[in-house]
Amino acid sequence: MKPVTTIKSGLHNIIIGNEACKVLDDHLSQETMNPFILVDDQTKVHCLPYLMNCSKKIIWDNIIQIPEGEKYKNLQQCETIWNKMFQNKADRNALLINLGGGMISDLGGFAASTFKRGIRFFNIPTSLTGQVDASIGGKIGVNYGGIKNQIGLISFPQLIIIDPVFLETLPEREIRSGFTEIIKHALIANDKLWKKILHSSMQELLNFPSDKNAWIQLITESVRIKNNIVSSDPYEKNLRKCLNFGHTVGHAIEAHLHTEHDIHTHGEAIAAGMICEMYISSKVTGFSFSDVETVSNHIIRCTGHHLISRSSFNDLVSLMEHDKKNISGKIMFTLLSEIGKPVINKSCEKQIIFESFEYLNSLA
Ligand SMILES: NC(=O)c1ccc[n+]([C@@H]2O[C@H](COP(=O)([O-])OP(=O)(O)OC[C@H]3O[C@@H](n4cnc5c(N)ncnc54)[C@H](O)[C@@H]3O)[C@@H](O)[C@H]2O)c1
Ligand SMILES: [Zn+2]
Repeated sequence: MKPVTTIKSGLHNIIIGNEACKVLDDHLSQETMNPFILVDDQTKVHCLPYLMNCSKKIIWDNIIQIPEGEKYKNLQQCETIWNKMFQNKADRNALLINLGGGMISDLGGFAASTFKRGIRFFNIPTSLTGQVDASIGGKIGVNYGGIKNQIGLISFPQLIIIDPVFLETLPEREIRSGFTEIIKHALIANDKLWKKILHSSMQELLNFPSDKNAWIQLITESVRIKNNIVSSDPYEKNLRKCLNFGHTVGHAIEAHLHTEHDIHTHGEAIAAGMICEMYISSKVTGFSFSDVETVSNHIIRCTGHHLISRSSFNDLVSLMEHDKKNISGKIMFTLLSEIGKPVINKSCEKQIIFESFEYLNSLA
């Protein structure tokens, strides 16, 4: 495998590979000599020192630090970013580099795209979720009123640098969570990738860094799927909706995090969401029930089995009623008819949604 792979589209360029961060300085122009770098508490400690080693152009005064965690993906933290850029006299040629997981790229991308009507930004994703999903495709924004991603826009980073070195310090639970989005990409677009995932050992993959190449390959295949879909439908008129598989139920669970069930990460919420939505697919789009069982069991082996409490069933459906994807008041899903064949804009009876929660909880 080549040390660095470049994937170009009309939207953004993606560079993937071992020590890919070393190319950063080649992409900084005269005006963006000293970029702003957004970090959270964790990525400041675990990722910033490596990036500073790779680049001669980062200065301490332009580091913007915010607290870690989904609950800080909000307008208040966005103001923290704007304030620091104002203080340091950023102009419209300024550049913001988002160094972190999906929370950082969503929030930082939003802050950059709205600052003085929009400055450029790069994403350097440091979580697996960020590397295979969140950093790509330009969906950026913040949570509002307790609901996910209610304020935001689609605006593309100029460059995405994916360096697997960052996975070395990522907690195992976060690696397992990020793996969910790799599974999702396979399920919606690539039957062969799904078979490869089904027959690969999570334990061996977790044996990082000895298996760095296996990760680079998986990440690259996953990124290509997302990039192809986004490039053909950047503003989600049609095809891009297939990326929402697992996310109608998953986002509702995520908005309900840290309440009554033991799901704590985006990936865990989406894993549960994919299991529920495969069950719904078996009732609505003829997805085979034996596939529901095989895939669900594999998801559970990779991400763990996270139950949702009965007392939150009604709240979850209410949250789904606020989903941005709904049409004419109906809750909309992206379902599967077969592995690799998504079907967009599907709705179902509420009873089937409740049954899907029961199905998730019944799996051993
Ligand atoms: N825009 C999109 O298309 C898109 C797609 C998927 C997810 N998302 C969003 O992304 C977020 C979830 O992403 P996430 O799971 O990366 O969350 P996150 O950014 O909160 O990262 C998870 C945790 O890992 C820590 N971390 C990140 N990199 C690390 C590293 N290398 N070493 C040690 N710790 C590290 C973070 O500090 C955080 O505590 C959600 O807000 C979700 O809505 C967006
Ligand atoms: Zn997701």
